Amino acid sequence: MTTLLEVDRISVRYGNLVALRDVSLTVAEGEVVCIIGPNGAGKSTTLAAIAGGVTPFSGDIRLQGESILGRQPEQIARLGLSLVPEGRHVFGTLTVEENLKIGGFVQGDRSTARADLDRMFTLFPRLAERRTMPAGRLSGGEQQMLVVARAVMTRPRLLLVDEPSLGLAPRIVDQIYEMLLDLRQRANLTLLINEQSSNRILKHADRIYVLRGARIQLEGTAAELQDGEAIRSAYFGFEDGATAKAEIPA
Ligand SMILES: Nc1ncnc2c1ncn2[C@@H]1O[C@H](COP(=O)(O)OP(=O)(O)O)[C@@H](O)[C@H]1O
Ligand SMILES: [Mg+2]
Repeated sequence: MTTLLEVDRISVRYGNLVALRDVSLTVAEGEVVCIIGPNGAGKSTTLAAIAGGVTPFSGDIRLQGESILGRQPEQIARLGLSLVPEGRHVFGTLTVEENLKIGGFVQGDRSTARADLDRMFTLFPRLAERRTMPAGRLSGGEQQMLVVARAVMTRPRLLLVDEPSLGLAPRIVDQIYEMLLDLRQRANLTLLINEQSSNRILKHADRIYVLRGARIQLEGTAAELQDGEAIRSAYFGFEDGATAKAEIPA
């Protein structure tokens, strides 16, 4: 498989706080890769660094072999990368359609935006049914779909999604992942996703990185990490042989 994204030993600081230390990861074309880690691990900072929102003080980030370090977020977006930030922010009083248009507006061209809007309603039939509804009246799962659809309006090839499962019921989490995996097929997307929990993610991701305390602690394929024990140790930082009673949030 061709490598699409290479994060190569990046370190990021906010003032005196080192939020990422020598973080490396790769994402191949067509993969679904998940970064799992507790609150404060550095997950959002990792996605922000890739999308150009923060600049690492060391290391490099390459998209299709070309360094994107230090470029503006808009420049990086134009290379085919789109970020869905955490928090499912929608414009609550605007309709579903208007929310999507805001995503397409970034491109500027009106006829393209129209075609992209139609494409979104084909890709997301649930949103098509609710196109004239104020986004604030959608369920949490539907709002997550909407923010993903808005990010896909610009036809990215790499989509970064920050904690899509947060606060959603397990059944809805599965629906969100079904949607994301379906998008991978139908919109040729590659996905890098942040999550705090691991149990459902193991079902859906190809590969997983565990991030804790600003560092990558563990990486492996979902098959390799299937029993969850190694993930739990890396997530909580247990020493070898420690009895791990703590549970990663569902
Ligand atoms: N804008 C910021 N300014 C200062 N510290 C920040 C900022 N954003 C995040 N941090 C800190 O950096 C660390 C990593 O945060 P973050 O990347 O948001 O972790 P996660 O997404 O895994 O919860 C945390 O200690 C957090 O408090
Ligand atoms: Mg975060």
